[in-house]
Amino acid sequence: MSPSAFSLSPAPLEGHRFGMKVFRGTLETLDGKALRAFLLDQEADLAIIRTPGDGQTVATQFERAGFPFLHADVLVYYEMDLTTFEPKSLRNPGLEFVLCGKSLQPELSKLVETIFSGYRNHYNANPFLPADRILEGFQEWAVEYGSGEVPDRCAWLVRRDGQWVAFATCSEAGNTCEGVLYGVHPDHAGGGLYSDLIRFTQAHYKAKGLSTMKVSTQIHNLAVQKVWSREGFTLSQCLHTWHVNSMLTYTQRPVVEQEFLVDDAAIQAYGQASGDFNPIHFDDGAAMKLGLPGRIAHGLLATGWISKVLGMEFPGPGTLFQGYRYLFLAPMFPSHTYHLRLSTLHVDRRGAWKCLGKITDQDGTTVLLAYLDLMLRASAAQD
Ligand SMILES: CC(C)(COP(=O)(O)OP(=O)(O)OC[C@H]1O[C@@H](n2cnc3c(N)ncnc32)[C@H](O)[C@@H]1OP(=O)(O)O)[C@@H](O)C(=O)NCCC(=O)NCCS
Repeated sequence: MSPSAFSLSPAPLEGHRFGMKVFRGTLETLDGKALRAFLLDQEADLAIIRTPGDGQTVATQFERAGFPFLHADVLVYYEMDLTTFEPKSLRNPGLEFVLCGKSLQPELSKLVETIFSGYRNHYNANPFLPADRILEGFQEWAVEYGSGEVPDRCAWLVRRDGQWVAFATCSEAGNTCEGVLYGVHPDHAGGGLYSDLIRFTQAHYKAKGLSTMKVSTQIHNLAVQKVWSREGFTLSQCLHTWHVNSMLTYTQRPVVEQEFLVDDAAIQAYGQASGDFNPIHFDDGAAMKLGLPGRIAHGLLATGWISKVLGMEFPGPGTLFQGYRYLFLAPMFPSHTYHLRLSTLHVDRRGAWKCLGKITDQDGTTVLLAYLDLMLRASAAQD
C-alpha cells in the first residue's frame, strides 16, 4: 500500500489546538508497515485511530509500526429505532428547552466548562496533550453546535427556575440523528435531568420523521449507559481509540542540529569496545553477499552519538538515560555524513524529559528515530 493510499485525514482543528500535525481516521484493518510509511511521509506528530473488534490484532500492528503508541479509550455506540418508539413524558416539571443561538453560546460554553472539567476522554490518556487545551476543545466543539448556523447541527440549553441546568448537542445525517454531547450541571445531577435530555431529543427527532438515533460514550461512563438502556437504546458498536505519538515535527524547545561523519576509525573503535566484529561492518564482500551495497556501520554508533549530545550539550551534564525506543529504518554507510535533529517532546516538573533524535542521510532519508526517556538531575534541569 502506498503512503498516499492510507486513509487517515488531516485534523486541522486538533492540530491547531495542540500545535501538532494531527491525523485521524477509523480503520477496519491495520497494516503496521503501511502506517509507518504514511506517518513518515506526512511527518506526522499524532495519529488518532479508531478500530473495531477486540483490539488485539491491531495492537500487534501498532507495535510493528514501531512508534510509541497508547490505547486511549474504548468508545461504545448505542442505537434505537425511532419509528417504533413511543415518546415518554419528562420526569421533571418546569423545564424549558431553549434552542441555542449566537447570544446563548457563552452560557453553553460555561456549562461545558463546569460539567466536563473533570471528565476523562481519550485525549487525557495522552501525556503530550495538556488538560486545559483538551477542555477548551470540548467547549469549542460544543459551542459550534450552538451557533445556529451549521446545517443539521443544533444545541439546546435547559432552564429551570431561571438557571441554566443542562444542555444537549445533536446532529443529523439522512435518516439518522446523533446525540453528540449532553451534560447536566453537577449541582443539579441525580434528579433525572439527563434522562429528560434523552427523552426530549428522542421526541424531537421522531416528530421530525427521522428513523434512527445514536449516542456514544467512553465505556467507563456507566451512568449514561444505564439511562440509554432504560430509554430504549441497545449497544450496537464498540471502537478502540489509539494514539500514535510519532511526533516527527513537534518540539517544545528549540531543536538541536548537528552533523556526524561515520568513519572507519569509529567503526573499528565500536567493534573493539563491543566485541561486535560482524563481517557486515568490516568486509564489503560479506555485506554484498547479504544483499547490501557494501559494509555498513553499527547502528548503535548513531545512538552513541546521540548519547554524547544528550550528556554533553543538550540537555547537558546531569542527564540520565532512562529508556528508549529505536526504529532503525535504513543502514548507515562508512564515509557518509549524517544529520541529527534533536527535539524535545515533553518536560515534566520532576525533571523527566522525552526527546526524539532523528538521523537523516544526505538525501534526507530517515535512517534512525530514537525516542528517548531522560531524567535531569537538578544542575542540568536549571540550565
Ligand atoms: C452523568 C450525568 C449525565 C448524569 O446526569 P443525571 O441528570 O444525574 O442523570 P439521571 O438522573 O437522569 O440518571 C442517571 C442514572 O445513572 C445513575 N448513575 C450515576 N452515576 C453512576 C455511576 N457512576 N455508575 C452507574 N450508574 C450511575 C444514577 O443513579 C441514575 O440512575 P437512577 O435514576 O436509577 O438512580 C451527569 O452527571 C453529567 O452530565 N456528567 C458529565 C457529562 C457526561 O458524562 N455526558 C455524557 C457524555 S455524552
